[in-house]
Amino acid sequence: MNEIKELSQELINKISAGEVIERPSSVVKELVENSIDAKSSIIDIHIRNGGKTEIRVSDNGVGINSKDVKLAFKRHATSKLSDHNLLKISTLGFRGEALSSIASISRMKIYTSISDIADGKSFEVNSGLIGELKPSPRKIGTTIEVNELFYSTPARLKFLKTENYETLLIKQCIQKLALSNPDIEFNFYSNEKKIISSLASKNLNFNKKLEHRIVSLFGSEFFKNLIWFNEKIDCYNFFGFIGLPTFHHSNSAKQFTFVNKRPIHDRYLYNSIKAAYKDFLSYDRFPQVVLFINSPLEDVDINVHPTKNEVRFKNMQNLRSLLIRSIKKGLESAGHKSSTINTLKTLDTINKNNLNFMTKKVDDPFLSNNYFNKENSTNLTEEICQDYPLGLAKSQFHETYIISQTKNGIVIIDQHAAHERIVYEKLKKNYNQNNLETQILLIPEIIEVISEELDILLNHRDFLARYSLLIEKFSNESIIVREVPLILINCNISLLMKDIISDLIEIGDSQILETNINKICSSMACHGSIRAGRQMYQDEMNKLLREMESTPYSGQCNHGRPTYIELNLNQIESLFGRK
Ligand SMILES: Nc1ncnc2c1ncn2[C@@H]1O[C@H](COP(=O)(O)OP(=O)(O)O)[C@@H](O)[C@H]1O
Ligand SMILES: [Mg+2]
Repeated sequence: MNEIKELSQELINKISAGEVIERPSSVVKELVENSIDAKSSIIDIHIRNGGKTEIRVSDNGVGINSKDVKLAFKRHATSKLSDHNLLKISTLGFRGEALSSIASISRMKIYTSISDIADGKSFEVNSGLIGELKPSPRKIGTTIEVNELFYSTPARLKFLKTENYETLLIKQCIQKLALSNPDIEFNFYSNEKKIISSLASKNLNFNKKLEHRIVSLFGSEFFKNLIWFNEKIDCYNFFGFIGLPTFHHSNSAKQFTFVNKRPIHDRYLYNSIKAAYKDFLSYDRFPQVVLFINSPLEDVDINVHPTKNEVRFKNMQNLRSLLIRSIKKGLESAGHKSSTINTLKTLDTINKNNLNFMTKKVDDPFLSNNYFNKENSTNLTEEICQDYPLGLAKSQFHETYIISQTKNGIVIIDQHAAHERIVYEKLKKNYNQNNLETQILLIPEIIEVISEELDILLNHRDFLARYSLLIEKFSNESIIVREVPLILINCNISLLMKDIISDLIEIGDSQILETNINKICSSMACHGSIRAGRQMYQDEMNKLLREMESTPYSGQCNHGRPTYIELNLNQIESLFGRK
């Protein structure tokens, strides 16, 4: 064995740089976080070649005092932590590692001043060696330039991806920090081209400021599909914008989560969000959220990893259930609201079909007898339209869709999907309150099953009884159903029982958890709801619309598909080229 030696400071810095600085976006993250901690109101970021050749971050923050400037580049040197506050960290930085790490693997230039009139200073740092301080007048603030990142660690350089990809990662990193700091103006340029320009909005409440920020970063269509929520439970405050369940995505790229304003990438938090949306989304779709969690500083540990992207909560289990509860409550407040994306998709399809339509021979509408028999809409109808968000049902088409007239347009409703959601919510509510209305079958239904299925059904008899499904063994290969929930009285009981058997097989012997309850309610709802292909009368259709309006989450069926689509008059007019 060789002799034991202490590593040189230079080597220590390089090793630590490997943990903190993985790629150009990690440099941007550390520098911008420093600018935020320095109370800047404007932060400009310039990069070249995906940050590989140059990254420059300028701010108008408090600046660095001349006497401290060299110290700032020493490892574990920080102005943000004292011996007493490791458990109460309110700044983004605290480990004093970023500047020393970046300096050890690049060539840096620093310009900084602590007032508009005091002389600024500038100096260079090459591979960790600090050059001479030179006078360099500038306004208050700091500019840090990082050139030739990883030039001294070529192995790292090799792992970098294309310019476009590295630029995208930098952009995403800035977006995250910009979302949690709507008071700060952010400008981002890549090869002199403006990529982000997001002004600060002053004198507004946080909700409005965040709205402006989201629109400036992601556009208004994204924003239109979000709903504001703000829940205070225990010592936590959960707030922000959560996406309508019909506005889902194939990955989690647009899930932004912040703990005490710090962007956090945490699998456990993502899973909790997924759990909150579980009833509305299939497992491979992701909701979109900009979600803030404020917690007492001493209840979260952010010192989990050098990149400070993860957190540990004192009581994660508790946090998880409170978070799920508050997101669900937020979603409930959206009621029947459905995503505008569906409307856009509709317009798109109609537009495409219209092109085909134009080339076909069209019947002249003026020749049609009904044309001038325009239906007189009574004042009463109009009043009703004004009062109800989903309007007044006008008629049914193909025994599947209802079209209703609203104050500003029309709504097309998928009768089965809509009714299914209503029945589902009713079943679940009644199940939870233990008061399902039941109906004894006049003629009990006998259902043939194989012996394994019989065992499973009989093992779950009490469980099914809670759903008011009363079954008994009839023979070795059949059961008899004596009672069902009133809501299901008209359904095909034998098909329903087959589905429930397969649910039970899937659930296995596991405990009766909420997921299972939802699953069974979902199967029951599917059987108990109005089928596509059934004729409905106007009263019945309107009753359905009114129920939708008062049922939580009725904008989508249990599988996350929309239950209705809305077209306002502006959109209809633009389809006809009137606008
Ligand atoms: N843009 C900046 N404006 C003012 N001070 C800065 C800036 N960047 C860095 N500093 C100072 O340099 C110190 C070291 O920065 P850093 O290595 O990132 O560690 P940390 O942020 O964890 O303290 C900071 O504590 C701060 O005092
Ligand atoms: Mg820092």
